[in-house]
Amino acid sequence: MYKILISDKLGQAGLDRLDQMKDVAYDVITGLSKEDLIATIPAYDALIIRSGTKPDADIIAAGTKLKVIGRAGIGVDNVDLAAATQHGVKVMNTPRANSVATAEQTLALMLAVSRHTVAAHNSVAAGEWNRSQFVGTELAEKTLGVIGLGYIGRLVARRAKAFGMTIIAHDPYVAAETAAEMGIILLPLDAMLARADIITLHSVVTSETTNMINAAAIAQMKDGVIIVNVARGKLIDEQALADALHSGKVAAAAVDVYQNEPPVGSPLLTAPNVLHTPHLGASSKEAQARVGIDIVEQVVDALRGTAYRNVVNP
Ligand code: MLT
Repeated sequence: MYKILISDKLGQAGLDRLDQMKDVAYDVITGLSKEDLIATIPAYDALIIRSGTKPDADIIAAGTKLKVIGRAGIGVDNVDLAAATQHGVKVMNTPRANSVATAEQTLALMLAVSRHTVAAHNSVAAGEWNRSQFVGTELAEKTLGVIGLGYIGRLVARRAKAFGMTIIAHDPYVAAETAAEMGIILLPLDAMLARADIITLHSVVTSETTNMINAAAIAQMKDGVIIVNVARGKLIDEQALADALHSGKVAAAAVDVYQNEPPVGSPLLTAPNVLHTPHLGASSKEAQARVGIDIVEQVVDALRGTAYRNVVNP
């Protein structure tokens, strides 16, 4: 019998799929401290997590039976991949399962921030009727700069095209011809930053991309640019963005992800013209069902030795 510990909330569809498997037993225990996880993990063959659990070197070393860590979602920046590799633990994610949800959240925030939707709602709810205060801008005929032209970046680009936007992008790992086939102009970062009316981030966090949107990058952008981040908080120097919002260099930002989550003390919380959401990119019912099913099937297949899909440390 394979034993799986699920230490973050997983979609019910994934648990239902596990219930159908006769050779698997699982426990859902969320909110464990690092010490509790170290004490708990030796009994399990696999660990399934979302972004809340952070399996570091100590936790992975304590997992003496541990063979697989399944990340229900895309980002594996909360897992110590080097430690997992050192201990022979396979780490796998579900790279496509929540992409549509994330792309739709990006468009939702882009539209909401362009039309002052939240501020206008708050005003009406407060008994006001200030139509002239909330004149927005259209997406049509604007230029969208996409940083990171992976699967989510491409879904965002396709949707933004439907709104009549011109799409430019920066991604050092994508060929210009590939982008051109999608009707996207690939540019060096500086040129892309200088041309975009709205900039949306879809990169993973690496040593190259950490704080890539910093004061120097913002200085290259158009005055009045809008920034949307539904990827990872660590891509943006929050103080630099807050300063640019205060000065008006950046007209508005939609921020779904933060350097630290929850973002206690983040300078973005007191900056003007920010639309905040609590890391909801992947939070659709459909995405969570897909993510849950995909990760339990992948993890169990790996435990059985029948297939190894989406292993990020092969
Ligand atoms: C992901 O990496 O899949 C998303 O950020 C959603 C999540 O953290 O669960």
